[in-house]
Amino acid sequence: MSDTIQKNLNYKKYVIDSRLQYFKPHSTKIEKTFAEDISSSLDGTPKFINPKYFYDKKGSELFEKICTLPEYYPTRTEISILKNLQDELPDFLDHNFRLVELGSGSSTKTRLLLDIFTNFQKKIEYFPIDISEILTESSELLLQDYDNLHITGIIDTYEGGLEFLKTYDDKKNLIIFLGSSFGNFTPKDGYQFLQKINSTMKPGDLFLIGLDLVKDKDLLESAYDDSQGITAEFNLNVLSRINDELDADFDLNKFAHRAIYNDKDQRIEMYLQSLVNQSVIISKSNLTLNLQKNELIHTEYSHKYRISQIHDFLTKTGFKIKHTWLDDNNHFSLTLVSKN
Ligand code: AVJ
Repeated sequence: MSDTIQKNLNYKKYVIDSRLQYFKPHSTKIEKTFAEDISSSLDGTPKFINPKYFYDKKGSELFEKICTLPEYYPTRTEISILKNLQDELPDFLDHNFRLVELGSGSSTKTRLLLDIFTNFQKKIEYFPIDISEILTESSELLLQDYDNLHITGIIDTYEGGLEFLKTYDDKKNLIIFLGSSFGNFTPKDGYQFLQKINSTMKPGDLFLIGLDLVKDKDLLESAYDDSQGITAEFNLNVLSRINDELDADFDLNKFAHRAIYNDKDQRIEMYLQSLVNQSVIISKSNLTLNLQKNELIHTEYSHKYRISQIHDFLTKTGFKIKHTWLDDNNHFSLTLVSKN
């Protein structure tokens, strides 16, 4: 118990009203700054930029746009599966559960889960965990539409938020991690992340993970290289962000968006390809970047899975499979697990 109090002392609590509060750590573990991160990831070969840097304001808007593109099947497919869950998920929720979401996500998906909870719980508790304060905006919109909803936002890393939750109270948690966001991890990092989730879950807690499945190469590549060029804009936007925030002089016209499906490693690989020999100054990273014509800067992995692989890595990281739901075309999956 004293442990719990000790733990929560690391967070500052902001009470907005009786239905809305936030927890924010007094200080986050010393993370590398954007400038340092970019300096180390672009100063060598191969060059890369961490995909978490896509999501400045413009990048988040472009991602929302991607989610509605005809070629980008994951979002609408996952939503269709969630709609079918309305009848079946309650069978697994035999206690009073709290909904915990990693990444505050698209509110369409959150709403579908809240709708399920509304059917059999008088009071619903929702804990979005997100490093970005944007979660405060989506929370206020949700509260307008759900009278019986109480939101506690945790503005922290996923790991920090999960750790916070572990000692928070005894209420059961349904943790959701949707959109195949997990696919950004390399297999090794993904494995560690699942172990982390498992170790912070209490017996009886549940975890629902949305994962994209292996499919036809052309379908995959057009989902990440759409005809309207929105994904290209999304990829290139990370260079504008570096220009704005780190005082750099990237000329976006001298780069091209590339999205390639790597069959062997079962992943879409996104790159920004230099169209000419060029050098770019990134002042705040103290870096002059020399790029050869055709040289690639790696910006994202988006792993695709087979159902047997999903079951295998979840089992190996200490989970028990409860159920996997698919859409009619077997394009996307939602898997519910408990702690073994
Ligand atoms: C947010 C990581 C799930 O990999 O499909 C979409 C990001 N990148 N189009 C994905 C993304 C290009 C997306 N995730």
